[in-house]
Amino acid sequence: MKGILLAGGAGTRLYPLTLVTSKQLLPVYNKPMIYYPLSTLMLARIRDVLIISTPIDTPRIRELFGDGEALGMHLSYAVQDKPEGIAQAFTIGRNFVGDEPCAMILGDNIFYGNGLYHKLAHAVENAENGSATVFGYYVEDPQRFGVMELEKGIGGDEKNVKVLSVEEKPIAPRSNYAIVGLYFYPAGVSAMADQVQPSARGELEITSLNDLYLREGKLNAQLLGRGFTWIDAGTFESLRRATDFVYMIEQNQGMSISAPEEIAYRFGWITKEKLAQSAERYGKSPYGEHLRAVLDDRIVL
Ligand code: TTP
Repeated sequence: MKGILLAGGAGTRLYPLTLVTSKQLLPVYNKPMIYYPLSTLMLARIRDVLIISTPIDTPRIRELFGDGEALGMHLSYAVQDKPEGIAQAFTIGRNFVGDEPCAMILGDNIFYGNGLYHKLAHAVENAENGSATVFGYYVEDPQRFGVMELEKGIGGDEKNVKVLSVEEKPIAPRSNYAIVGLYFYPAGVSAMADQVQPSARGELEITSLNDLYLREGKLNAQLLGRGFTWIDAGTFESLRRATDFVYMIEQNQGMSISAPEEIAYRFGWITKEKLAQSAERYGKSPYGEHLRAVLDDRIVL
């Protein structure tokens, strides 16, 4: 199972913050935004990740994570010359993906909640068995998102739910469930992405790719229910909300969330020595302190 972290885009809604800086390198409380989606891919136990960003930002992100050795991962990088759509990730990443199933997460999407781990494992299983998985989240303003129409009367949020239709930014949405920026696809996704035609706004829409899977009867959805937090941190309002959220969780529990080095260590991808080296790199910052607490077994889960 491979993973793509798509961290390009223009970030125009965050101007002037993003005039000369990648949105994904902006702080969400105490760490760069990109730490959160990387952590989510890691929680799906994906160790081979392609990071795609702009010509200017890709080298900066590479500086941050390198080849992934400190995380016991294999990280590679590719450039998207222009933000021509999210589904383009699979044509840019064609050689990387090869004939394996592949997940993709958007660089500005933050996921947090109990049970995420199980949902991710389930999506991986679907992908390995030949079908795609998207995740739905209830929103007040579905017009702004890709929206999924669901079979009525679904209960529980642990199981796959049946999707009846998917639409990109519909004027009259058929539901309040936005399709969030985390997708799992079976082997052959790059060939499927080749079939996607540019939309009226000239982008290769991820919703069009999802629609192809839906038409083949190979699209599953899982709902992220109450108690689960998903934030697309692409606007000032949501970026502020993301920062407040992480601050609140970390202060409340007295520990960091979405620390990739910690996840790598707990999964046995890196040794204690490697974790200690990373803790050094972060110096006296609270993040470095957190890694030291993990090292000393002061935090057990
Ligand atoms: P968006 O928030 O839809 O677009 P954007 O980041 O360009 O921002 P704005 O609308 O403010 O101009 O993108 C969602 C995520 O996907 C974000 O992390 C950037 C990434 N992205 C790409 O990397 N390439 C693309 O072609 C697109 C459309 C998005």
